[in-house]
Amino acid sequence: MSSSFCLTPQTYHVLTDGVRRDPEEFWLKEGHRRLVWSREPTRAMDQEKGWFADGTLNASANCLDRHLPEHGEKTAIIWQGEEADHVIRLTYRELHARVCAFANVLRDCGVKRGDRVAIHLPCVIEGIIAMQACARIGAMHVVLFGGFSAEAIADRVADSGAVVVVTANVGRRGAKRIPYKTTMDAALRLLGDKSTVRHVLVVGVTEDEVPLEAGRDALLEPLLRAASMDCAPEAMNATDPLFLLYTSGSTGKPKGIVHGTGGYLTWASFTHQLVFDHQPSDIFWCTADIGWITGHSYVAYGPLANGATILLFEGMPSHPTPGRWWEVIAKHGVTTFYTSPTAIRALMSEGDEIPGRYDLSSLRVLGSVGEPINHEAWTWFHEVIGGGRCPVVDTWWQTETGGAMISLVPGAVEARPASATLPLPGVNPVLLDEKGQPLEGAAEGILCIDGSWPGCALTIWNDDALFQTTYFKPYPGHYFTGDGARRDEDGYFWITGRVDDVINVSGHRIGSAEIEDAISEIHDISESAAVGIPHDLKGQGLIVYIVPHEGLDKAVTAGLKDQVVRIIGTKVGRYAVPEKVFVVPDLPKTRSGKNVRRLMRKIACGETEGFGDLSTLANPAIVPELIRIVGEG
Ligand code: WT7
Repeated sequence: MSSSFCLTPQTYHVLTDGVRRDPEEFWLKEGHRRLVWSREPTRAMDQEKGWFADGTLNASANCLDRHLPEHGEKTAIIWQGEEADHVIRLTYRELHARVCAFANVLRDCGVKRGDRVAIHLPCVIEGIIAMQACARIGAMHVVLFGGFSAEAIADRVADSGAVVVVTANVGRRGAKRIPYKTTMDAALRLLGDKSTVRHVLVVGVTEDEVPLEAGRDALLEPLLRAASMDCAPEAMNATDPLFLLYTSGSTGKPKGIVHGTGGYLTWASFTHQLVFDHQPSDIFWCTADIGWITGHSYVAYGPLANGATILLFEGMPSHPTPGRWWEVIAKHGVTTFYTSPTAIRALMSEGDEIPGRYDLSSLRVLGSVGEPINHEAWTWFHEVIGGGRCPVVDTWWQTETGGAMISLVPGAVEARPASATLPLPGVNPVLLDEKGQPLEGAAEGILCIDGSWPGCALTIWNDDALFQTTYFKPYPGHYFTGDGARRDEDGYFWITGRVDDVINVSGHRIGSAEIEDAISEIHDISESAAVGIPHDLKGQGLIVYIVPHEGLDKAVTAGLKDQVVRIIGTKVGRYAVPEKVFVVPDLPKTRSGKNVRRLMRKIACGETEGFGDLSTLANPAIVPELIRIVGEG
């Protein structure tokens, strides 16, 4: 292994050994040395009170102010627009000034410590500025994925009780314009009188004009220009929420995962450094949208806390030409490139000669996240993009874990293709059988985590009971991840995918209940089931079975598929539109009336036999019927 990495197997061993021997001392030291505190914590973990509970700090001061004395002129952000000559660079000093001005604008809008601010933006620098500005004044940001529909936005704005919304006039995609402001207006209209939103701040991404509602909406730019660039950061308790981020689970309603300040930031900084072998000269590019946790931890917080230079790219991987991403890497000398298996597979399908046209020699570390990476994609990434010399870190984690949990550590851990490898220091994964019994050695089972780690979510917004039942009740004494995994005799992990009713399409988590809830609005459908099946590019594809009410006329039934696609698009978002919709007379059920998803998945995959014992079904005759319907396409 190359000696140019920060860690060696020996120094890594000191870390893993240290945290095993005395986690309290280990994390207190990490918390102290990674972050600046307005009051240093005297304890790391307190069962009752949480991580670093008696410490106070500000996340934005940790990402910006502390770097100013020595690295104020260092580039914090390189923003590459879709057009080649559209580049913006901000130093840490400039970013700090903009964040302070933005924070003052938020204060002028009446945002106070503890309030929620929703952010719905395309890939512009203002996204990160807005997040940092919230953190600076102790408000929680709620970043909403750009692909959400108006209804999805409305649900989340309502649940969070956001008082201010930050959006854009439009997003840019080639010549196309994505109507952010119009979508937000529609969302707020849906909320009507119940809306808690007092102000809508609009980033002018282009010159396009959008209607502004007097008294509520304002263009951001003039407000920023008029605002003071002095804004003292609020000293927050380490366990105060830093943000909420909505994610999908087994229940239909999206859950607002709440992350704290001190623990989360320690974890983001620690994992960013270890996993990506962070060095000061790095140009770090994580392709994730800030609407997902990856964008929070590895665009906004981890790298900035570590004083890194990050790259943001407004455009698509292969737009306007294939190879656009590789061109960006070559142009800006990107050293660390973190993306998803779906993107890797799509780029791989364009052929090897496209990346071959670009100089990718600046790359040092490659990363993958969001879904299991297959052997072929891993190898292609390693060989063709990394030239065989860059470690590929397959990072397994979740919105709830705050940062990477199982991952290769460059220089320290030996890679194995397509394996997330070993748990990071301080992470204690266990594999359980169906009954919840721990499995030893080489085994395959349900992935749970024992004990706590600094990045663990605090709760679900407005629903701590759901937090407890979702994560700690299925296997008492363990944190339940919802994933299955295999472990080899050397302790290496291979994640096999979700074992619950969550479908992972292109790394986007979609709850089957979320889809079924949306479909339930269609009166002519009595029942539906959404399942995930393997998909070459997306990892999983979404398949929906619908059961129309009896006695519908043919024309109505024929229109149902389109209605399903439409309602998912409006209630959830375009990203959740199914590959296929099958109209069926019934769903396979157990005698107690539960849908048998396992069967529906197999049948949707085209399997016609090997279903095991069907005699426990209430309606076994439906099985050949489904096989026939799926077979006809
Ligand atoms: C789910 C979490 C982690 C940030 C992005 C997604 C799947 C995530 C991997 C990986 C296999 C992975 C899991 C997990 N997942 N990373 N490296 N290998 N599966 O965050 O939206 O909270 O989704 O994504 O199924 O539970 P998320």
